[in-house]
Amino acid sequence: MFIDPKRIPHTGSPPIDAEHERLALVMNEAYELWRSGEDSSVWQGVLLTFLDMLDVHFKEEEDLAARLGYVRSDELAAAHGHYRERLRQLLDQFRLGQAGAPTPSDLFNYFDRLIYEHELMDDQGLWDVFKQDHHAQVPGDPLIVWNDSLLVGHEDIDRQHETLVRMLNNLHHMIEKRCALDEIVVLLGDIRRHIVWHFGFEDKLMVQYHIKSHASHAALHHHLLEDLDGVVQDVALRRYEELEGLLENYLKFWLLDHILHVDMAMGRDLALKLSAGVKPSVLPPLSTA
Ligand SMILES: [Fe+2]
Ligand SMILES: [Fe+2]
Ligand SMILES: [Fe+2]
Ligand SMILES: [Fe+2]
Repeated sequence: MFIDPKRIPHTGSPPIDAEHERLALVMNEAYELWRSGEDSSVWQGVLLTFLDMLDVHFKEEEDLAARLGYVRSDELAAAHGHYRERLRQLLDQFRLGQAGAPTPSDLFNYFDRLIYEHELMDDQGLWDVFKQDHHAQVPGDPLIVWNDSLLVGHEDIDRQHETLVRMLNNLHHMIEKRCALDEIVVLLGDIRRHIVWHFGFEDKLMVQYHIKSHASHAALHHHLLEDLDGVVQDVALRRYEELEGLLENYLKFWLLDHILHVDMAMGRDLALKLSAGVKPSVLPPLSTA
């Protein structure tokens, strides 16, 4: 299964959750058709249907936001426009076989990760409104406060980092609320998935732009992932008190340290290449291991 409906975050609105699940089922259908060797026009048709359904879904979220008097309705609509355009552009690049077009596997990963990113980055404010409505539950302080000192200067990378920060903050709130360990394991699995995608994205950019520190940076990613795997394996054995410490001392430090010391240097190198007018070389496929 490509998208496990179990790992789709709950929004606090049953109709929106049901729509998310339907969208995941359609995406899974397209993915299975591709994996079974079906002609690409068939699964591309399913992806087009997915995009049409997504348009309807975005519209429903926007209508709901307006009805609830959500203060950031305009930002929500703008974000939907951004993702709508981005996803259609990726599919068009693929269909037209343009230079640098994603492979089918990259295409599915982009769809999955970009939508997840959007849910956390843009829709979560609306979920907070749903949740306050139903449970009057306001989360405590975040584990990590996102701020400009964490920006590396590349729009996609910054958005991916902010998504990771939100995922760690969600994990922190789940631990605070004493959620079941198996729910925490599901979220940790998704954090791992997002990190793999993000590392693959950075690796690809560094290859494309011939960034000198690419090999050492990629080796650090590799070690971080190995460490994370150790954490995920250990988690089921831990008590809550230990989980808090693990988050505070390990995952938080790990992410911030890497962004501030390693990604920041990459951001500067990339900016230099871009300002010198360097063109990216042809895309290698993204790793999804
Ligand atoms: Fe949504
Ligand atoms: Fe949305
Ligand atoms: Fe990195
Ligand atoms: Fe990064």
